[in-house]
Amino acid sequence: MAGPLPTSLLPDGAAVGADGRLTLHGHDVAALADRFGTPLFVYDEEHLRARCREALAAFGDGVAYASKAFLCQAMARLVHEEGLMIDVASGGELHVALSAGVPAERCVLHGNNKSVDELAMAMRAGVGRIVVDSFEEMDRIDSLVAGGLQPPEVLLRVTPGVEAHTHEFVQTGQEDSKFGFGLASGAAIEALARAREAASLRLRGIHVHIGSQVFDVGNFAKALEVVAPLARSVDLEELCVGGGLGVAYVEGEESPSITEWAEAILDVCRSAGIESRITAEPGRAIAAQAAMTLYTVGTIKVIPGIRTYVSVDGGMSDNPRPVLYGSGYETFVPARAAAERPSAIRLVGKHCESGDLLVREGWVPDDLAVGDVISTPVTGAYGYSMASNYNRLLRPAVVFVGPGGTREVVRRETLDDLTRLDV
Ligand code: LLP
Repeated sequence: MAGPLPTSLLPDGAAVGADGRLTLHGHDVAALADRFGTPLFVYDEEHLRARCREALAAFGDGVAYASKAFLCQAMARLVHEEGLMIDVASGGELHVALSAGVPAERCVLHGNNKSVDELAMAMRAGVGRIVVDSFEEMDRIDSLVAGGLQPPEVLLRVTPGVEAHTHEFVQTGQEDSKFGFGLASGAAIEALARAREAASLRLRGIHVHIGSQVFDVGNFAKALEVVAPLARSVDLEELCVGGGLGVAYVEGEESPSITEWAEAILDVCRSAGIESRITAEPGRAIAAQAAMTLYTVGTIKVIPGIRTYVSVDGGMSDNPRPVLYGSGYETFVPARAAAERPSAIRLVGKHCESGDLLVREGWVPDDLAVGDVISTPVTGAYGYSMASNYNRLLRPAVVFVGPGGTREVVRRETLDDLTRLDV
């Protein structure tokens, strides 16, 4: 038995009317499903903007949005308009940002195995920062500069040897990691010495990222204490603390705000005597709670005494997180958002495998029926960005809703999209 969905899990612009229907900036959410079809990603544009502004106010210029959480041209433009830089983790993400009109100098290129082509693309465009991850990458930059490209401004990614309390797949700060230059092994010191001497790089600072979906600000503090001696030993202009702030997905979870996270980080840096500019690159904390996914209920299979399966028209292809990380989500019915949710269900997709699970234990009103629009909130980060065409399902459309109206920013795929790469 569960009560109505807590509104704290919904975007800022969400409200439940006297008729029990959920609206976003005054737009009826269930009606968006009729208009744009399902599955549908519905973002509160103002919520995205507000989180960007919060990050900028908390850290100051240089803070970036980690675009792996959710990226399309409209999102890249929004982030740039709000004054954030954009962290891109591949040539593909860089291409989307540039094609949206984001100036290259506002992009930061990441990646543990950047190809020569990706580095050349970034350097030719003139990206603001390259976060160097390996000695091989330094060799590649050396050759590109020898070939005539300008030396890029770089940060060195240091692996502090700190384990963040989160899922093993999204931990990155521990010594045993594919990312960055380890402190304990001496690689970080060696990389720093090489970077300071190298004519092919302009070393601007150090970068640390310990993982994602981290709730305990103490984990970030610990990592910063560990890198502080290194950061103090060289006079560098920037220390980027990465992203990783956790977000509440289900009732009962609580996460620090971006402001609280930033305050904790800035406090530790100050007391550790780090004088450089502190920057960060949150992704999830900006995008996750801004969106919800709408699905249409297609079948309801009651297995007496065992379980009720509710199948919807999407699944692991629009949200692989439950399958990959065992992540939990809530379920609710936007047209009856104030209703009690007495019935336990398992929300599943339409893919041809039993692992295709969206919500292991969801709660719904007891009159849930085929044809209803059902929603999973907090799907704004790592949902659309990790979507696939498994079983040749069409990737959903994405709409932005704001006080000024609703606009489709990514159209739904068509059957023709499925064959456009066939030669
Ligand atoms: N900076 C770096 C270097 C990163 O690797 C990441 C995330 C971020 C920033 C942003 O982290 P955030 O603030 O979003 O936690 N697919 C996983 C999350 C993978 C995160 C990868 N890197 C998930 O769905 O939980």
